[in-house]
Amino acid sequence: MSQPDSRDRSWTILEILQWTTGHLKERGIETARLDAEVLLAHSLGMSRLDLYLNYEKPLLPEERATFREYVKQRAQERIPVSLLIGEREFWSQSFKVTRDVLTPRPETELIVSSALDFMSDENRAYEVVDIGTGSGAIALSVASERPNAQVVATDVSVLALKVARANADQMQLNGRVRFEEGSLFGAVPGEQFDLVLSNPPYIAGSQRSSLARELTHEPELALFGGEDGYAVLRPLVEGVGSALKEGGLFLVELDPRQAETVAGWCRDAGLSGVRVLNDLAGNARVVSARKADPTSGAVDNDEKEHTHEHSS
Ligand SMILES: C[S@@+](CC[C@H](N)C(=O)[O-])C[C@H]1O[C@@H](n2cnc3c(N)ncnc32)[C@H](O)[C@@H]1O
Repeated sequence: MSQPDSRDRSWTILEILQWTTGHLKERGIETARLDAEVLLAHSLGMSRLDLYLNYEKPLLPEERATFREYVKQRAQERIPVSLLIGEREFWSQSFKVTRDVLTPRPETELIVSSALDFMSDENRAYEVVDIGTGSGAIALSVASERPNAQVVATDVSVLALKVARANADQMQLNGRVRFEEGSLFGAVPGEQFDLVLSNPPYIAGSQRSSLARELTHEPELALFGGEDGYAVLRPLVEGVGSALKEGGLFLVELDPRQAETVAGWCRDAGLSGVRVLNDLAGNARVVSARKADPTSGAVDNDEKEHTHEHSS
């Protein structure tokens, strides 16, 4: 299928969308219509709603030039839409993304919603750390929802931290979030937190050849946890007990196949109330665990340890 030529006649927004959707589908892209709409809206400086309201509007040749280039890169090189347009929505905010960071995924919002549930006292200055912050998705979402929280965002990648800082600037959160470079808890030595949040790299290197081509455009450091997928998860769980205050909460994202293993490590590390939380697609996605608080008298509900809970 060849792209409509600008010399033929003028093409309307609807016609271009229909053509592009068919083209991307032929290339095996499942989100063809959505991708076409997002790329066209971005090329025209419009919202997706504006596209619907202007279906019959003819496009000028110069308006189509940028769009044509985006479609080519999406179809041929499998560059994700987020990287083509340089942004992705997460927790209802627009995050700048580059090739130096993982594009935030919708399932990661489960960490944010679970953290906010725990931070129920909006006036309390909860101390929170986001290990491996990438674009800043988790840290900045929590900071924007809990103005009194003291949030630290860490990453081993200086380039990722640069993107996270830019996002903090854009969201006017820069004074509220501290950025620290370093590996795992080495970025915040000796500090203790009410919440330790993390979406670490957890894909097994051994799965590399079976992954979607889109992932080759994201940083290896953000995706792969060594050959078995546990290279970062394992030391994260081993170190989290010392980094949590008594009564503090640990939330970590993982592959559904890793959930029971990581839950077991949390129990071995002396954490209590260990739970596996499902994402909206019904996949085990987050392990949640508490550091016991001997002074509170509260008993974590161990009966729930093996249940999978949905979080909205
Ligand atoms: C899966 S990405 C998550 C990014 C972001 N938190 C999100 O959820 O969209 C993992 C991040 O962890 C960082 N990372 C990898 N190894 C690390 C380590 N040992 N210590 C700290 N951060 C690490 C990567 O640079 C990357 O930014």
